[in-house]
Amino acid sequence: MGKTLALSLEKLVEEPYASIISYPEHNKKEVSKRLRELQRLGVTALRFSGRKQVLNVPVLGKGCVGVVTIAYRKSEKVALKIRRIDADRATMQHEARMLERANLVQVGPRLLGVSKNFLLMQFVDGILLPDWLETRIAGTNVRKVLREILEQCWRLDKAGLDHGELSHAPKHLIIDQESSPVIVDFETASTDRRVSNVTSVCQFLFVGSEIAGRVAVSLDKISKEAIIEVLRHYKVVRSREAFDGVLDACGL
Ligand SMILES: Nc1ncnc2c1ncn2[C@@H]1O[C@H](COP(=O)(O)OP(=O)(O)OP(=O)(O)O)[C@@H](O)[C@H]1O
Ligand SMILES: [Mg+2]
Repeated sequence: MGKTLALSLEKLVEEPYASIISYPEHNKKEVSKRLRELQRLGVTALRFSGRKQVLNVPVLGKGCVGVVTIAYRKSEKVALKIRRIDADRATMQHEARMLERANLVQVGPRLLGVSKNFLLMQFVDGILLPDWLETRIAGTNVRKVLREILEQCWRLDKAGLDHGELSHAPKHLIIDQESSPVIVDFETASTDRRVSNVTSVCQFLFVGSEIAGRVAVSLDKISKEAIIEVLRHYKVVRSREAFDGVLDACGL
């Protein structure tokens, strides 16, 4: 990441930043409303830097609901999820409530603040799992990271909180500088659904996706059939013992 300037809030009324604050299009009224909202959250500046781009400006990430950037509360560096004006939800409150519950079991970036259009959270300095796997093939590190991802999913299962997007999670698992995985994006999370964090993430990491192939080369021989079998059992009994069986079948 190259060095970029931190921009104070008054600079954000200018293009192209205004269009990012009210992405995907510049809406003057909305921008000034949102800048007041940022002020109330204690945000003093934003920094446009990261591996993704919107409107030729680097950012941490972009999805259907939000654009994620670096922000500052005075000298504290945090991550800011900006609600897109075309998002299919009216506020960030649900995501904040879900993230708060995940935080209770030490999962997810720490929630730092929320308003109608913004969610402030701990900044995770890392790279997405698929990219991380590319740079780190064989070795114990991979096993340790995957095991920690499964442990976090087990804690979410036990807490009754279903993330909802872990069966296809190329953008929802960040590995930080200390090689600790962080699960992000709790906007489709729910406490009303049947939980399937462990089964979904195993499907993604070991069974179904292109990632599964990349994971397999860095672990000893694992059998997809055996994993599917233990997951079936885990789904029914959902005990620590059954979860240990899952870890075992995944070679972790
Ligand atoms: N706390 C954070 N620290 C650093 N980067 C983050 C953080 N939260 C999210 N990101 C980055 O921003 C991207 C988009 O975040 P998120 O998935 O929450 O947005 P979204 O609009 O819901 O996206 P999608 O539509 O893909 O679900 C993530 O894939 C990740 O790369
Ligand atoms: Mg999302």
